Amino acid sequence: MKRLAPVLPMLLAVACRSTDAPVPAPATTAPPSASAVVPPGAQAALDRLDPRADVPLLPMMAHHQKQNMRDHLLAVQEIVAATAASDFDAVDKAVGRIGFSEQMGAMCNHMGAGAPGFSAQAVAFHKTADTIGVAAKKKDRDGVLLALGATLSTCTGCHAKWKQRVVDEATWTSVSSQPPPQHSAH
Ligand code: HEC
Repeated sequence: MKRLAPVLPMLLAVACRSTDAPVPAPATTAPPSASAVVPPGAQAALDRLDPRADVPLLPMMAHHQKQNMRDHLLAVQEIVAATAASDFDAVDKAVGRIGFSEQMGAMCNHMGAGAPGFSAQAVAFHKTADTIGVAAKKKDRDGVLLALGATLSTCTGCHAKWKQRVVDEATWTSVSSQPPPQHSAH
């Protein structure tokens, strides 16, 4: 709130001026580009506010990770709804999307290649999620909820520690000690 105070008169001034000003010629009506309105040092300012550790990722990987994350949340939504309906088969099916597999482990290692400690936390999450499935197979509602709570604390524990850092290929190669990405379908 306090921070808005000095900005507010400026915003009002701009708003007032635009109503008084004559209609500009079409060539000048284009809005300023994003880079013109984002103040220099914005990334540094964000980093000061958000001191979590970096997970360096190429843009494609960062996008992929966020897609996975949104699907993780969807799986949790389905687990809660299915538990409420005592549909333990549906619980187990939804757990299949967040549980551990060799393929999942390989993806975690890839995502965490530039952030020591990240992959281990990711694997621990998927293995904790497996315990939801164990309880679901026993049709143990309390067990499902306990395991879901434990799983959610691995989500929040990871979010508390790490943030994405989108990097270029040269940085990725140096921080991950992995070869540059193949530009094929991924
Ligand atoms: C091993 C680490 C890790 C675990 C475990 C994890 N996440 Fe994330 N998640 C991340 C990171 C890193 C981001 C990006 C955060 C950032 O840059 O601010 C993220 C972002 C998200 C986002 C935002 C997606 C977007 O589109 O911006 C959602 C939603 C999310 N996670 C849900 C979950 C849920 C639900 C779970 C558990 C069921 C989970 N995550 C477990 C690391 C993790």
